[in-house]
Amino acid sequence: MTILDGKKISKEIQLEIAKAVNKLNLEGKKTPHLAAILVGNNGASQTYVNAKVTACKNVGFKSTLIQFDNNISEKDLLMKVDEINRDKEIDGLIVQLPLPDHINSIRITEAISPLKDVDGFHPINIGKMALNIPTFLPATPAGILELIKRYNISTSGKHCVVVGRSHIVGMPISILMSRNSNPGNCTVTLTHSRTVNLKNITKTADILIVALGKAEFITSDMIKEGACIIDVGITRVSSKYTKSGWKLLGDVAFDDIKDKSSYITPVPGGVGPMTISMLLLNTLKSVTGFDS
Ligand code: GUN
Repeated sequence: MTILDGKKISKEIQLEIAKAVNKLNLEGKKTPHLAAILVGNNGASQTYVNAKVTACKNVGFKSTLIQFDNNISEKDLLMKVDEINRDKEIDGLIVQLPLPDHINSIRITEAISPLKDVDGFHPINIGKMALNIPTFLPATPAGILELIKRYNISTSGKHCVVVGRSHIVGMPISILMSRNSNPGNCTVTLTHSRTVNLKNITKTADILIVALGKAEFITSDMIKEGACIIDVGITRVSSKYTKSGWKLLGDVAFDDIKDKSSYITPVPGGVGPMTISMLLLNTLKSVTGFDS
């Protein structure tokens, strides 16, 4: 069994990005600049956005954090998005999700210029992704692809089962794993809350990608011997064994499953760190463009 070390790979990618920024600077080109909008005081969102802004600093990007109270109107948020769309200084824009209930997230996502949409959530970019046209890929699915690529895990012809159909992870990763590319070329089954006999399906997976948000939901009786397990879940649970009083658990019962798997991502330190690196990579691409 091999542990897929997202923390290590993520550091390698950030080093590569820092080198690319250096090169841009030497050539007198623009330094990538990410703007992040955070609405309200959701603790997890604050942590994620702060981590994104810090990561920008670490690789030499510029960043701007824009914070609004929970009660900002949708109209005012749309006006801010429009202002950033027109700001030539800013290359990439993310609006951290979830947004408060009175704001329509789809309307906000659609308002972001597709050329600055480094989250890859705009319908135009989702469409390009589905058609295999180079564009910004959503960061978490892109991080999964990058882990698979850097560990040389073969995917062609394999049965990939995805658990969870969120717009941020499950839906895009199911498209990406089925595309005619590498990684990709899988036969994909996308499962969700209405799926009947989930265990019968997960047991046939060569590659199992779980993005459900239910701590330790997948147990060893639900997987095939030698399967590659990608765990996207992060749930904070209380623990009497840690100083902080809490710990993070994935959607997969790691200790139960690890010896039955061929590859497995830990939580924390698996997919999570890859997400930020892929956002940085998208921000770099917003300045340099896409190869091919
Ligand atoms: N909320 C959870 N994941 C993400 C993400 O990748 N981008 C944004 N904008 N919000 C999120």
